[in-house]
Amino acid sequence: MSTRILSTSPLVGPALADLGARFPALRLAPYRSPEWNAALPEAEALVVMLSEPITEADLAAAPRLKAIGTYSVGVNHLPVKACQARGIAVVNTPGVLTDATADIALALLLALTRRVAEGEALVRSGAWRGWAPDQLMGPGLAGKACGILGSGPIGQAFARRAWALGMTPLFWDREGSGGTVDFGGGQAGFSAPRLPLAELLPRSAVLSLHCPLTEQTKGLLDRGALETLPAGAVIINTARGGILDETAAMDLLDAGRLGGVGLDVYDGEPKVQPRWFTTPRTVLLPHLGSATVETRQAMARLLCDGLAAALAPAR
Ligand code: DGY
Repeated sequence: MSTRILSTSPLVGPALADLGARFPALRLAPYRSPEWNAALPEAEALVVMLSEPITEADLAAAPRLKAIGTYSVGVNHLPVKACQARGIAVVNTPGVLTDATADIALALLLALTRRVAEGEALVRSGAWRGWAPDQLMGPGLAGKACGILGSGPIGQAFARRAWALGMTPLFWDREGSGGTVDFGGGQAGFSAPRLPLAELLPRSAVLSLHCPLTEQTKGLLDRGALETLPAGAVIINTARGGILDETAAMDLLDAGRLGGVGLDVYDGEPKVQPRWFTTPRTVLLPHLGSATVETRQAMARLLCDGLAAALAPAR
């Protein structure tokens, strides 16, 4: 039986198997393995992960392709314009990972500022000799401004968390239209100013990234931009590597100019610049933003529903 759906992973939960039963046959093959390459020409739908780029050459090699589904909200690894030109649907997973991703940004922020990993390591090492007045202190957050890059659902969800910590959210987004952003998730009375980047950065004791990686945001936080942050500022990136100039961030950490950097994503991941491992005041996670059981199941369901619609469009 020919392959209609070619996936690099079974995903989490039963959604992909259900889709395969509805549109046989489903083939699971590692990304760019000989089996994957062999099945590509007959595939009508591809399922890939955020770490598995698809190129225009892949589209040319897959003349029957109707849809590409990515198990992520981000689509920066897909040739979206070329797909549009060929009438190939791009299916992603917006909406269902909003809270999980905002939660991991909050976890990074608290781990970094309250030195959770260092404290845990100290106790676990057996070397802790008891409470001390100045032990493992970090900066408090209440009363400080939190710059948020990206005013979409994840940026807004993070703003609610920052607000709950007593911080003042400030937004920048790609529209740059000024005015305010409502971040209350439908609840009135929660709005924050939308500022130009040059105005937001010098005010941001915390800066959290929640915008997609696009031509406009690639390299947005370059050395010059980072140098305008207040001394001791903390940066959290759960969006995409490539938005932040990592070398400049490490230089500013080494120089004591930045207060900390918490990363869930990396430019060129899963490769991580080895210098991160020894740079002080960092917390490094392996792209866990959407990693809750409920979220990964919901992502699979949403993705497979979208692929089903592309494979059997309503008449
Ligand atoms: C996505 O789905 O694009 C996110 O990066 C998950 O963390």
